[in-house]
Amino acid sequence: MNRFLFVLGKNWQLSLAELDNTLKNAPQFKGRITDYSANIAIVEFEDLHTDRLYANKLMELQYILGGCQKIAEIHDFIDIQTVHFAFPLQIEKYKQVDIKRKEILKVINSSLKKVFPSIRRESLFFAVSIYPNLYDDNYYSDVLLKHFLPFLNKEIMTLLKENGAKKSLYYKYPQENIDAGNLNPIFPHHVITYGLFNRDRAEIIFGFTEEGCYIARTLTCDDPNFKKRIDEERPFKEFKSATSPKLSLIMLNFLNLFEQRERKKILDPFVGHGTILMFALIEDFQIFGSDIDETKVKNTERNISWLLNELEEEAPYMINEIIKKVDINQLSSVFNDEKFDGICTEPELGPFYKQKPYYTEVVDLIESKLNPLFKATFRESFKVLTPKGRISIIAPVIGTIDGGDVQLNVEQIANFYKFKLIPMLDLNRIVNKSNRKLQFKQGHVRAILDAKKNQIVKRKLYVFEKIDESS
Ligand SMILES: C[S@@+](CC[C@H](N)C(=O)[O-])C[C@H]1O[C@@H](n2cnc3c(N)ncnc32)[C@H](O)[C@@H]1O
Repeated sequence: MNRFLFVLGKNWQLSLAELDNTLKNAPQFKGRITDYSANIAIVEFEDLHTDRLYANKLMELQYILGGCQKIAEIHDFIDIQTVHFAFPLQIEKYKQVDIKRKEILKVINSSLKKVFPSIRRESLFFAVSIYPNLYDDNYYSDVLLKHFLPFLNKEIMTLLKENGAKKSLYYKYPQENIDAGNLNPIFPHHVITYGLFNRDRAEIIFGFTEEGCYIARTLTCDDPNFKKRIDEERPFKEFKSATSPKLSLIMLNFLNLFEQRERKKILDPFVGHGTILMFALIEDFQIFGSDIDETKVKNTERNISWLLNELEEEAPYMINEIIKKVDINQLSSVFNDEKFDGICTEPELGPFYKQKPYYTEVVDLIESKLNPLFKATFRESFKVLTPKGRISIIAPVIGTIDGGDVQLNVEQIANFYKFKLIPMLDLNRIVNKSNRKLQFKQGHVRAILDAKKNQIVKRKLYVFEKIDESS
């Protein structure tokens, strides 16, 4: 069928934007998202699928994406009406249910022959993962989990035996989660632990959108333990202010530097403990960083040396030429010879509020501290970036007691210093959805929030491109 199912990260809007941007701009992964929900995206590639080693290519893609949990190959599709007839919220027409369930089984049976390269005389193990259109949908908790999941487990087991399997077993989810209606499909690290990429073991995904249910077999998945280890085992860390590994990877991808990464120079001028740079390093970029705080500069140098050692690569001699103590206001005078291909950074976002501050307090913070800092960032970035170089930058959105969310006008500052905003999602490339929770509006994609519920200081990701004055 040549279509692939991508399981999106928790922040699905940001994950979808990252994926669309990559499919649009990375020459080796050209393609389009043809359908999506809050959990999955369906992708058609221009020619990746014709490559004999397409599974390896998908692993490469999985490795660079920050917001993708799994990639699966689609084997079939069941339209949503058939699913709703077979598994209605309330059963009234038993005969119709029976007929439609048989139809579904036929489709599943033909998929199984593609999921498992060989069935006869094999001992097979499978895990069914259902990704609903939206998790907070009654249809997920009341029907898909309570009826569709047990149906799939039992029937797939039977079908495999009918097709000659010696043994067939399935992954059992905790019953209490099924009963409570809050089950998460099997996590990527369990997919790895259970060996579900082996010939005789598989994760079979039933991924829902408004259009229907895609049946797919997982080919590759994120290795969260690898990222976690880099993030948590490095010698120096400070989680309060650190950018997350996933967000770091997403920010790097929005720089649109997908080819010859080993030749591309990336700068983080607010390097802190170096999270963004560490992930830029594992993505093969040439890295540079600076910070006003001498201790952080030293700590980042040690973190980078530790990572190079872990990766069994040699530390560049004179690492102190790569990570420097610099106030953002002096950036271009220190890095005057370097022309960076991209800047990826999270400047100071303000204090760590334990309680929501007052509106006036935040306005004062923005005027006295954050505006000057962001102005200096864009002014200096313009000088050190190559023509059309991009900057991925986080700005704060601060919740207040008495005035709602307050933010600085990043766009205005960037425009003043000759940067144009790059919307994070190209709405011309995205199909429209009828559920309002799944719709994108022009204003929503200029920058995308990355925040947990009730977080006081939320991160907002922007991407800007340096205006090329010569053209
Ligand atoms: C939010 S932290 C960056 C966190 C980093 N991404 C990480 O994961 O560790 C912001 C950093 O900006 C630095 N900083 C604040 N003011 C600065 C200035 N004027 N020039 C350069 N760095 C500055 C702080 O020392 C701090 O390390």
